[in-house]
Amino acid sequence: MKIFIDSADLEEIRKACEWGIIEGATTNPSLIKKAVEKMGRKISMEDYIKEILRTVPGPVSLEVIAVKAEEMIEQAKALYKKFSPYGEVVIKIPVNPSLSEGDGLDFDGLKAIRRLSREGIPVNCTLVMSPEQAILAAKAGATYVSPFAGRIDDYIRIKMGMKIGIDFRKEDYFDPILLNKIVDFKISEQLSNYSSIAEAYKSQDMRKLVQMIQDNGIISGVDLVAKIVKIFRIYGFKTQVIASSIRNARQVREVAETGVDIVTIPFEVLREMVRHQKTLEGMRDFMADVVSQYREIFEQR
Ligand code: E4P
Repeated sequence: MKIFIDSADLEEIRKACEWGIIEGATTNPSLIKKAVEKMGRKISMEDYIKEILRTVPGPVSLEVIAVKAEEMIEQAKALYKKFSPYGEVVIKIPVNPSLSEGDGLDFDGLKAIRRLSREGIPVNCTLVMSPEQAILAAKAGATYVSPFAGRIDDYIRIKMGMKIGIDFRKEDYFDPILLNKIVDFKISEQLSNYSSIAEAYKSQDMRKLVQMIQDNGIISGVDLVAKIVKIFRIYGFKTQVIASSIRNARQVREVAETGVDIVTIPFEVLREMVRHQKTLEGMRDFMADVVSQYREIFEQR
């Protein structure tokens, strides 16, 4: 499994690359906005992106900002031509760029992916929220698909009536196993109210309860990644899966357990991954126990 950094902040990217564990980076317009706001001064976006490309030892995803296939293809080619001399450019295309129901743009992402892939431009298909979308992106020829694990967790929390950031903070772990157990318990409590299994199965209350804790059969962001990985392996799809929208260290471990190809991780989560209170405690103990005889070995030149 490769680790990418999910950031457009050059300072973060530089630091993480110095740690020697980064093999790529993913950006998006929101991450670029965050980086620009942090800089607090006018910067040449072009020079800034060139520097990101020079820093990262692997593919860097840059996103288009159009929604129609032809315009996305044009922008993708411009980005690819301008920045390829500085590093490995991958173009991010949304799986479905539609901004409102019925605007007729549902398939423009796939059309753009198909054309760009045929012309040898690698595409990272972004905003993937279902295995169904991932299958279409792979069929269109995407080099990568990016399922957004954290956003699916948020979506399920909202369906349950939880407010993001209050019931669970962003960095908290969202536990679908606990939720499923609660629902199992609720269902077994209610079963005696029905005269037959069929009646219980058809009950709207039962259905609502189950649907609340999932998104069309997907029970968490990690589950979304796991299902995509499974389908791609069954059919031998070449498209690589990038677990995205990662919110905490445990989520990284759980997507790693799915056999995902790549995980793109925000800087803060990388920091969380390397920390453990027992490691800190152990370090303090070892340092306090250093005897002078042992220290002398290091002092001899
Ligand atoms: C992926 O490539 C995206 O940049 C990213 O993971 C989005 O995640 P978010 O939900 O934290 O915005």
